[in-house]
Amino acid sequence: MRNRMSFLAFALLFVLGCTPFAGAQQSSGSTAGHAWWQHAVIYEVYPRSFDDSNGDGIGDLNGITSKLDYLQDLGVDAIWITPCFPSPQVDFGYDVSDYVSIDPMYGTLGNFDRLVAEAKKRNIRVILDFVVNHTSDQHPWFLDSKSSRTSTHRDWYIWRDGKGTGQPPNNWLSTFGLSAWKYDPTTKQYYYHYFYPEQPDLNWRNPGVEKAMFDVTRFWFKRGVAGFRLDAVDTLFEDPNLTDNPVLPGKDKFGRPNMEEKYDKKLPEMHVELQRLRKVADEYDAVLIGETWTSNVAQLEEYYGNNGNELQLPMDLMLTDLPLSAPVFREHVKAVDSARGWPTYVITNHDIQRSYSRYADGVHNDDIAKMMAGFYMTLRGTSIMYYGEEIGMENNDPKRKEDVKDPIGILGWPLEKGRDGERTPMQWNGSANAGFTTGKPWLPVPASAKTHNVEAESGNPSSVLSFYKQVIHLRKTEPALLDGAYVPLNETDPNMISYLRKSKEGAVLVVLNFSGKPQSATFDLSKQGFAGAKVKALLQNAVNVPDGALQNVKLDAYGVYIGSVSH
Ligand code: GLC
Ligand code: CA
Repeated sequence: MRNRMSFLAFALLFVLGCTPFAGAQQSSGSTAGHAWWQHAVIYEVYPRSFDDSNGDGIGDLNGITSKLDYLQDLGVDAIWITPCFPSPQVDFGYDVSDYVSIDPMYGTLGNFDRLVAEAKKRNIRVILDFVVNHTSDQHPWFLDSKSSRTSTHRDWYIWRDGKGTGQPPNNWLSTFGLSAWKYDPTTKQYYYHYFYPEQPDLNWRNPGVEKAMFDVTRFWFKRGVAGFRLDAVDTLFEDPNLTDNPVLPGKDKFGRPNMEEKYDKKLPEMHVELQRLRKVADEYDAVLIGETWTSNVAQLEEYYGNNGNELQLPMDLMLTDLPLSAPVFREHVKAVDSARGWPTYVITNHDIQRSYSRYADGVHNDDIAKMMAGFYMTLRGTSIMYYGEEIGMENNDPKRKEDVKDPIGILGWPLEKGRDGERTPMQWNGSANAGFTTGKPWLPVPASAKTHNVEAESGNPSSVLSFYKQVIHLRKTEPALLDGAYVPLNETDPNMISYLRKSKEGAVLVVLNFSGKPQSATFDLSKQGFAGAKVKALLQNAVNVPDGALQNVKLDAYGVYIGSVSH
C-alpha cells in the first residue's frame, strides 16, 4: 500500500460497511456510507456561455447565481465552473495569469463568495477548475522565469537549449498544432508548451511549484469550494532526458506526422503527484475530479490510486467516443462498473462535440437524447453533465474560418474547426440570442434555440428537459438507483441494453433501445431473485409497456423504459 492508511484502519472500514475506494469522506447527504459526490449530479458550467448579467455578450458569475433556482429544480448537486480566473483568454480561461482571483469579465471575488453562499442555500456545491499543467505566459511566475536564466522562477518552467540554430530540443508536438517548443530570444532558450505557446508548462519537479500550486487549492477550499476538476493531468511530467517520441505513419489534422506520445504524457510521477494533491484535498474533505484521457479501463483504474488514495472521480472520457451501439456501450459499462473505484460518467464537455449532435439521426434526435439521459443517469456512479445537455442543445459549428474564435480552429481549418460549436450560449428562451444576453453574444446561437430552450421545454411534459428532471429525480429517490449493484441482463441482445440496479430494498429495471427500429425483449429475473416478478413503470419514452409481466416488452426506436421490480 502506498498511502499511510494502515491495514487495520482499512479492515475497520470494511467492518463498518464503508467503501474504502470511495475515499475518506463521509460528509452530509451521503447514503449507506457513501460520500455526497457518489450520488451527485455534477453540472459543468462554461461561464462565458451560461448567462450574461451585464450585457457585454459574455456570461459571468452573477449570471450563474441568477440561475441557481433553475439548477436546483433540475436536481443538480454541484456545479463545476470552468476557469473564471484572470486570463488573457487565449484558451478562454485555460491560460491562467492569477490563480487566486476572478477575471473582471466574470466579476469579483465578492461575486464569487455570493455565488457559493447562494448555491449552498440550495444544497449546490461549487467545484472549480484547476489548470495544473501550465500557466498563462502572462503569469508573473512566467514573466519572471523568462526574464533571465538566473531568475527566481527560471526553473518553474521547462527551459532547454535547442539542438542547433532554429532546431527545437526534440520532436515533441503541441496538441494544439506546431512544435511544443518556443524559442525566447531574451535568454536564447526554448520553453516547453504542450498546449498553446501562451500556455507554458510548469515544472512540477521544482518543489516551489508544488508548494505554490497546493496553496492555490487551499485558498479556494477555505472559500468554500467543494473540490476541483483537474485540467490536463496527463501532461504534468515529461521525460527529463527529452527522448524523441516515436514517429508513426500518417499525418494528424494539422498535417504533422503522427506520433506516439510516449515521453511527454502519463509519466508514473504524475500519479505520485496526484496522490500528494489528494492529501491536501483530504484536509478539506474535498473531491478531486480528473480530466483523464485513457484508452482503456486498466489505464482509468490507475487514477484511483492503489487503495483509493488518488482521484475520487477520474472521468470516463472513453464514453464520449463510442458509436451508438448496444453491444459496444454494454461492454464498456460492464468494464467500468467492475473496475476498482467509483465510476464517473460523462457524455460530453466543452472540448467535445455535443452528444445531441453526435448521435442525432435527423428523425429521432430528442428520443436519442432522452435515451442517453435514461442511460447515464441510471448507472451506478457519478454523472457529470454539460450545460445545455438537458435541453437537447446541439453543436453550432462555425461555417466560415473567419467566424472561428478557438485558435485551434483557425490553425486547423477545415479539418479541425475548433470547439466553438459546443460552447455556444445557453438557450434560456425563444427570444433573440436565446435570452442569454441583451448584447451581442460572443458566439451565435443556433436556429434550434427557438424550440430547444428552457422556457419552451419547461412547459412541455414530453420535452428533453422534462425527461432529464424526472430521471434525475428518480436517481435520487429510488434506493436501488442510489445504492444498487449494476446487473446486466440479456447480454447478447444486439439492439437493446437492459440492466437491473439491484439493492437490498428492491430493484429497478432499465431497458434502452439503442436502435432506430422497434425492438422487444423478454426478461427472466429468477436468477436475480425475482421469479414471477412484476414491473411498474417509473419513467418511459417511446414505449408503452403495460404494468405487469416481463414478457415481450416492446420499445419503439430509441425508447427508454425505467420500471420498479417487485414480487
Ligand atoms: C483541457 C481543457 C481544454 C483546454 C486544455 C488546455 O483539455 O478541457 O479546454 O484547452 O486543457 O488547458
Ligand atoms: Ca457579462
